[in-house]
Amino acid sequence: MALRRKWLTVSGFIAIAAAATMLSAFSGASTSQGFSPEQPVHFPHPLHVQTLKMNCLYCHFSANKSPDPGMPAVATCMGCHALVAANKPEIMKLAAYWNKKQPVPWVRMHKVPEYVHFPHMSHVNAGVSCQTCHGPIQNMTQVYQYSSLNMGWCVSCHIGQSNPPFKARYDCAACHY
Ligand code: HEC
Ligand code: HEC
Ligand code: HEC
Ligand code: HEC
Ligand code: HEC
Repeated sequence: MALRRKWLTVSGFIAIAAAATMLSAFSGASTSQGFSPEQPVHFPHPLHVQTLKMNCLYCHFSANKSPDPGMPAVATCMGCHALVAANKPEIMKLAAYWNKKQPVPWVRMHKVPEYVHFPHMSHVNAGVSCQTCHGPIQNMTQVYQYSSLNMGWCVSCHIGQSNPPFKARYDCAACHY
């Protein structure tokens, strides 16, 4: 009887381990650190942020009011590029999307799994800078994923281990529900 119970426990454990492996392998573990896909239009952050002094929120317009930071509509770009650099090859690609009334199919980089709740506005309004999590975007000629986005990364900041330090809830239900 004792032996049987032990084997049930072992197989139960294996089932959970297998399920957890499948969960992280297939159903969307966070995207990986360093990930830097080629984009359909080679958009230069350094030029727009440093030279033109554009605020991140000009394009990622809802980072301070919604869970989702927002991506710029083609119309936001064409506000300038209908005239600015209109004859450059990358801008001609942009204008082609505009003329077809299609959004630019930007390749998504940063992504946490569906079972994780990540509200941008709570972080931005608590004074955590974009760069704390996304690194020096203003210097990246091609954006890459700077942080791991794994659970240890989230929790170590919530318990006050980041530089500069912050504090936030770290009970399971804060991030999983
Ligand atoms: C003029 C508009 C514009 C401005 C200003 C801008 N961005 Fe972006 N951002 C984009 C576009 C377009 C993309 C998608 C193409 C790319 O990755 O370069 C993007 C991509 C990103 C991504 C990667 C998104 C993903 O898929 O995970 C991050 C992070 C980001 N921006 C952060 C910032 C930060 C931080 C600032 C301010 C320092 C900023 N951006 C300023 C337009 C802008
Ligand atoms: C406030 C005006 C403004 C907005 C809005 C803007 N840009 Fe620009 N962009 C510029 C200027 C100015 C340049 C530099 C043009 C030059 O070098 O002649 C530039 C340069 C570029 C270049 C480099 C062109 C090249 O090959 O030299 C790309 C690509 C680009 N922008 C894409 C975008 C995209 C995509 C968006 C929307 C997410 C956007 N821009 C929004 C003003 C803007
Ligand atoms: C506390 C860390 C943190 C801060 C601060 C932060 N982000 Fe993010 N960002 C993330 C995470 C995590 C994701 C992936 C979220 C998801 O999958 O829902 C992400 C995703 C993004 C994306 C991709 C969204 C998409 O729909 O493609 C953009 C763009 C972005 N962030 C821009 C910004 C900007 C701009 C700021 C500052 C105003 C900022 N972030 C502040 C952690 C952060
Ligand atoms: C660099 C620090 C930092 C990192 C990294 C970070 N957070 Fe946070 N988080 C905060 C701060 C600060 C707050 C706001 C606390 C407050 O307003 O009381 C917050 C708030 C939250 C909230 C809202 C909690 C509530 O009170 O309802 C959630 C959910 C959350 N974070 C999830 C995440 C997840 C998921 C990750 C990782 C993908 C993450 N955070 C990474 C600092 C961080
Ligand atoms: C501050 C946010 C945060 C808190 C608090 C948190 N988690 Fe997570 N958790 C995450 C993130 C982000 C991931 C996704 C990690 C990845 O994809 O690499 C995750 C993943 C997981 C996974 C899946 C692991 C895998 O490899 O597939 C489990 C199980 C889990 N968390 C359980 C818990 C439990 C139990 C607690 C409470 C003790 C907890 N989490 C607290 C953010 C959090």
